[in-house]
Formats: sequence, structure tokens, C-alpha cells
Amino acid sequence: MRWVATRFDGLDALSFEHVHVADPADDEVTIKVMAAGVNPIDLKILAVLNDPALLPHPIGNEIAGIVEAIGTGAQAGSPGIEVGDEVIAYHSPGGYATRINVPAKDVFAKPSALPFDEAAGLLLVGTTAMEMLDRVEVKPGDTVLLHGASGSIGAMVLQLAARVGATVIGTTSARNAENVSRFGGIPIEYGPGLSDRVRAAAPEGITVALDAAGTPEATETSLEWVSDRNRILTIAAAPGAAEQHGFHRLGGPKSVEFRNAKRAELIALAGAGEVQVHISHRLPLEQAKVGLELVTRGGAAGKVVLHP
Ligand SMILES: NC(=O)c1ccc[n+]([C@@H]2O[C@H](COP(=O)([O-])OP(=O)(O)OC[C@H]3O[C@@H](n4cnc5c(N)ncnc54)[C@H](OP(=O)(O)O)[C@@H]3O)[C@@H](O)[C@H]2O)c1
Repeated sequence: MRWVATRFDGLDALSFEHVHVADPADDEVTIKVMAAGVNPIDLKILAVLNDPALLPHPIGNEIAGIVEAIGTGAQAGSPGIEVGDEVIAYHSPGGYATRINVPAKDVFAKPSALPFDEAAGLLLVGTTAMEMLDRVEVKPGDTVLLHGASGSIGAMVLQLAARVGATVIGTTSARNAENVSRFGGIPIEYGPGLSDRVRAAAPEGITVALDAAGTPEATETSLEWVSDRNRILTIAAAPGAAEQHGFHRLGGPKSVEFRNAKRAELIALAGAGEVQVHISHRLPLEQAKVGLELVTRGGAAGKVVLHP
């Protein structure tokens, strides 16, 4: 079974269908999916593709599972992968499925200490967070203002920034403040009066601003508090905001290259318990639309994973 988009107009266009999974091609691995990560991009990408030639379009991007077959001569992302091994696959297009074929280069050994659910929610947000810190060169002693700190990206940024030795002031709704403090951040509520709360939390100022919320308030507050535009970054602001104000926006081939190169390092960190994936919802694969609604409308307050 798998989820596909039969049109490009949102959740209503998604369909759960039977599919025959062929033997893997020479450069592929067949994986029995144990958990699939749900991300906003899984749905957002449909609006970007919008080409009927791409239909039906399989949904999903990251999974953890068990290797069932390996193509002749396939070279996996980590060496020595065999049938029966527990693995993580990212990118795994069509990951909302019971079983899929994935390019071998994107398949990595899953550390035994890392549960399938956490493994399925690790790489997209984790490598994005790594790139965020790298691009603005977060260093020991920095005081970071992080918009959207209670979300999945936020959890990863908080943990990675703490490892560097930076302090993070993280914006959140009141109900999710615990999501920020659990990973060492200082929670403050977003909304009217935000700048006053930043001042109270960081009387000596902010050196870096990272935006995973994408609101006009996030952009305005970042610009107000950080004069060096080279140390302001967004992954979520409306198109044009970063260009207009001269700060960083992630995405495109440069980001893909950076993040792909970081996958093995991040898996090792998670396997050693150095970073955690905070899972808020576990849903049966049949309820993929519920999961997508949670992550696109907000309020998931952690990673959503699907169980075939
Ligand atoms: N460009 C890239 O490469 C890239 C990569 C990954 C993700 N993204 C984007 O980054 C964003 C965050 O992803 P995610 O997976 O972390 O999503 P998420 O888990 O849903 O988190 C969203 C965050 O935004 C906060 N938020 C909601 N409404 C807000 C408001 N009005 N003002 C300030 N904060 C608000 C939420 O806080 P509460 O829940 O506490 O309200 C939460 O902390 C998404 O837009 C996603 O598409 C971009």
C-alpha cells in the first residue's frame, strides 16, 4: 500500500492505493517500512511540482525500516548493508508506504539504540538544523533568537546549539513552552510585545536570529535585534523577504549538497543519544492525512510518524 497524490490541490487529492513493488533495480534497496516521518514539505511540494506528467505522485520523504532486497551492485550510504538490516532512508520518495524501493546511496545503517520512530524523523529536520547553525556560524557565547523553537526544527536547533555552547531564546506558544526548556532553551511567547520579552530574556542582546516560523513578526524582530544581516537566517519566511533585507534563506542545490554530506554524522550523534527526536504523534499509515494536517496547520508540537 502507498499514499499518492492524484492531483495537485492539497489533502483531498491524496489517495491510499495498492501497489506492486518490483524487484529493486541495480542501484536500489527494497525496504519494509516500519515508520515514516511526516514533514510540511510532503504536502507543500505538490504546489511546486504541479505537472500532470508527474501523477500519480508518491508522498513522503524519509523512513526507517528493514532491508528486504538489495540490487546487484548497489552501494548503500553506509557500507556493508545486508538483507535483514535495520536502516534509515532519506531521501526516500514515496515513503508513506508499506514497502518501497529506494536509491541505495540514500540508505544508512540504523543504530540499534535508535528506535524506528526517531530514526524516521531524524534526517530532514536534523540536517536542516545543522545547516542553519553552519550558515550563520553559531559559536560558543552566541545568544540566538530562534523563532518557532517549539517545533521539530526548533528541537534540533536547540540541541545542536547547546552542543556548540550557544544560548538560545526560543519563541513558542504558551502551551508548548516545555518543548523549548526541555532542550535547554529559554522560552518566550511569540505575539504582541515579543521585543520586550526578548529584551527581558537577553539584556545583553542577541547575536544571531534563526527563523523557523516564517511570520512577518519573526522577520521584523530578527531585523530589530541583529544588525549583522549575515547572522540572520530564515527557512520559512515568504519568498522575497530574505532577498529584500539581505539575510540568508536556505534551500536549493547548495542546501541539498550540505545536508546530504551531514547524514552519517547526524545518525551517529542520534545513535549515541547526543541528539533526540521528540515524537508527539504516532499514527497508523492509513491516517496520513491526519498527520499532514497536524504539521501543515500547526499544533503538532513534535514529530509526527506513520506506522504501516
Ligand atoms: N527551507 C527548508 O529547507 C526547510 C526545511 C524544513 C522545514 N522548513 C519549514 O520550516 C517550518 C518549520 O518546520 P517544523 O517541521 O519545525 O514545523 P512545526 O514542527 O510545525 O513547528 C512550527 C513552529 O512554528 C511555531 N509557530 C506557529 N505559529 C506561529 C506564530 N504565529 N508565530 C511564531 N511561531 C509560530 C510553532 O509554535 P507553537 O506550536 O508553539 O504554536 C512551532 O514552534 C515549516 O514552515 C517548514 O515547511 C523549511
